[in-house]
Amino acid sequence: MISDKIRDILNEQINKEFYSAYLYLSMSAYFAQIGLYGFSRWTKIQSKEEIDHGMILFEYVIGRNSQIQLNQIEMPKFEMKNPLSVFEQIYQHERSITSAIDCVAQMSEGDCDLATRNFIDWYLEEQIEEEAMVSKIISKLKAFGEEKSALYLIDNELGQREYKPQAY
Ligand code: FEO
Repeated sequence: MISDKIRDILNEQINKEFYSAYLYLSMSAYFAQIGLYGFSRWTKIQSKEEIDHGMILFEYVIGRNSQIQLNQIEMPKFEMKNPLSVFEQIYQHERSITSAIDCVAQMSEGDCDLATRNFIDWYLEEQIEEEAMVSKIISKLKAFGEEKSALYLIDNELGQREYKPQAY
């Protein structure tokens, strides 16, 4: 059994992961509307991964014999300016998720809940990967994104992404 405090922060994190899925899905729609189908595929796959992140937390809370509280998911908000700006917003969003995960790690440690503390390591690693992946795309967009032909190539590259179910 986990404490009420840990139960609440894990439920909040589930909400953040599902919000992330919504955010990426709305970005996917934006990219499809402007003809960037590779960007659209990439963000749609990321959306699926975010659902997996939420579901891993969901199973963990249930597995610890605690309660799930599914709160309302906010409407996703981002500025539809251009691909670089959208990826910069993704980066900021992922940084905020990293901070949230850091808080879960800190709180579980403070609560002497070492099982949750160990569990959350997977998310800490995942955040490092996600920030690095997004930051590489930003660098490419900064270097070449102004050129339409280069943007076309980046779009093709992002369109190669395959969905891999996220498993803990
Ligand atoms: Fe679930 Fe993008 O972190």
